[in-house]
Amino acid sequence: MYKIAVIPGDGIGPEVTREALKVCQAAGQVEGFKFETTEFDWGGERYKKTGETLPDSGLEELRSFDAIYLGAIGHPDVKTGILEQGILLKIRFGLDQYINLRPVKLYPGVDTPLKDKGPEEIDFVVVRENTESLYVGIGGNFKKGTPDEVAIQEMIATRKGVERCVRYAFEYTRKRNREKKLTLCDKSNVLTYAHDLWQRVFYEVAKEYSDITTDHAHVDALCMWMVKNPEWFDVVVTENMFGDIVTDLGAMIQGGMGIAAGANLNPEGVSMFEPIHGSAPKYTGKNVINPLAAIASAGLMLETLGEEKAGLRIDKAIAKALGEKHIPNLSAGSGKSTTEIGDLISKFVTEIEI
Ligand code: IPM
Ligand code: MN
Repeated sequence: MYKIAVIPGDGIGPEVTREALKVCQAAGQVEGFKFETTEFDWGGERYKKTGETLPDSGLEELRSFDAIYLGAIGHPDVKTGILEQGILLKIRFGLDQYINLRPVKLYPGVDTPLKDKGPEEIDFVVVRENTESLYVGIGGNFKKGTPDEVAIQEMIATRKGVERCVRYAFEYTRKRNREKKLTLCDKSNVLTYAHDLWQRVFYEVAKEYSDITTDHAHVDALCMWMVKNPEWFDVVVTENMFGDIVTDLGAMIQGGMGIAAGANLNPEGVSMFEPIHGSAPKYTGKNVINPLAAIASAGLMLETLGEEKAGLRIDKAIAKALGEKHIPNLSAGSGKSTTEIGDLISKFVTEIEI
């Protein structure tokens, strides 16, 4: 019996969460596991009523679960940054979820803006460091609001933080067992302190993984190659800020935000699973948004919990639904409603041969 903390969040978050859990239920039935959920109402509405984002006691409570599932955070009436920092980043940092795993996978039947590229060419995973770099919030203002204002925002890289991420990436590349190629993405030609550390750690750890081919791309070049030759990539490891940016590009080449899944992992602790997309307020409550990114994230959750067959079932069910055009496209109002897509994937999850 897995204990799952559920944070449906704002906008379309609750709708896509419902479908993701429906699919988990179906997977549990066929694979023989159960889970119980505890729902938390952290998000924009609660903040508007109480002024509270995520209380410290809430963070402590989350530590007692096997996993956390999050729908979406972001409310049109709340100033940008408050909920992101007060909830999402507070959980990532507070539970030391130091890996943000983001698969970039083009499913069959899905349109990509890249000409002449298909599912064969677009299938890699970005391992984004998730607790350091520009996200640490170190910095300050001097003479704020005057013409002489100075603003400083520090980028940090620690030996421990870089090494645990790089090691995870090498292990993951080995376990994935495809091209067995790991690409380091940085800007070491300019960031000669922080990214020099990444370089040194990467090539030092690489000596322990002679079965893995190493490669390197500066972040600007990586953006170019992701568009021109995405087939070059198997696993990419990068720091937090660059990982944030390149995975939005990744989402676009895999067909859009409607299919981009993510996992915030603490391999020694409690991990959190969430689609990369936001709360899409204008579609709230309309039953039109496609929940596939949320469902795919739930698949990552089951896989991480050790239910690898369930994860595989979900992946194959999504591939079947898209490949056989049961779902015409990934946009809101594709002709299939949110609940219909959830039902369809649940059905395929139980029927599929693995
Ligand atoms: C993401 C998001 C977050 C990030 C925001 C909402 C803080 O863009 O998960 O990629 O920058 O990490
Ligand atoms: Mn982002």
